Amino acid sequence: MLYPLLILGLLLLALIHLTHGQSHRHTHPVQTSQQSLSQDTIPFETRVYWMRRANAALAELESPCPFGAFGSVVVNHTDTSSDPKGKLVCMSINQSMQKGNPTLHGEISAINNCSGILTDPNGEYKLSASEALKAFSTLSLYTNAEPCPMCASAIRWSGFAECIYGTSIESLVEKGWGQILIYSDEVFEESTKLPSMTRLIPNVLANETDPFFSWQFDPQYPCPEGCHRSGDGKGCREIWGTTNREL
Ligand SMILES: *[C@@H]1O[C@H](CO)[C@@H](O)[C@H](O)[C@H]1NC(C)=O
Ligand SMILES: *[C@@H]1O[C@H](CO)[C@@H](O)[C@H](O)[C@H]1NC(C)=O
Ligand SMILES: *[C@@H]1O[C@H](CO)[C@@H](O)[C@H](O)[C@H]1NC(C)=O
Ligand SMILES: *[C@@H]1O[C@H](CO)[C@@H](O)[C@H](O)[C@H]1NC(C)=O
Ligand SMILES: [Zn+2]
Repeated sequence: MLYPLLILGLLLLALIHLTHGQSHRHTHPVQTSQQSLSQDTIPFETRVYWMRRANAALAELESPCPFGAFGSVVVNHTDTSSDPKGKLVCMSINQSMQKGNPTLHGEISAINNCSGILTDPNGEYKLSASEALKAFSTLSLYTNAEPCPMCASAIRWSGFAECIYGTSIESLVEKGWGQILIYSDEVFEESTKLPSMTRLIPNVLANETDPFFSWQFDPQYPCPEGCHRSGDGKGCREIWGTTNREL
């Protein structure tokens, strides 16, 4: 007599748990461990400025409409000597196609680029390897799309002070992108045993980052500025580009 009730109860609990799990991302986009971090003092306009730079990195380094349109910039917000918005340390974009290396997502490329720039003996910083490792804790990484679990882990291992992203993994998947469904806030939440903390700031300027990821699997979607549909209408191509960069 009791068993059906018990099973019903368990099912109900499971259901509550499930729905809670699903709503989790929307109700608590910033992981709980962030609560122990101090208040965000960077103005929103500054966040917007750097997120636009992450988008602009695409055109600067490859084309306004590369297929893998993932751009990142790394910023020192403490260095306001030449600009109150902070100082650009390095940037990069997804280089998987260019380098034949599937791990070279925008964020990983940016981390590699920063290490090179920070330790360059003829560069501006001339840091030792161990100084460069420590330097990451003073830097903020802006990426136009939510880091995948590989990149989110690399960001946590780097010990960045902050990670700010535009388009969410959920949106990428809705648009047709293949993604691993482990969200940045989950990776961050599970990484509290690392010595550093990283503030995660989601959905910054997603209205401007989304269009870079919306045309690849939707032939009706307009190409990013500076590009038009190529002959077969499937890809977007730079309007004044000399080379075919559509893939
Ligand atoms: C960031 O800027 C601060 C203030 O200028 C400076 O002390 C620090 O070394 C800079 N970090 C890096 C990695 O350049
Ligand atoms: C590395 O960053 C610098 C400075 O932002 C940039 O000029 C350079 O093109 C970047 N290199 C790569 C490989 O992304
Ligand atoms: C990186 O680029 C490759 C090749 O275009 C693409 O398959 C992959 O989805 C991109 N992903 C990310 C997250 O950068
Ligand atoms: C996107 O939204 C921000 C506010 O979050 C706004 O400042 C910006 O103008 C919007 N961009 C476009 C292209 O509408
Ligand atoms: Zn990634």
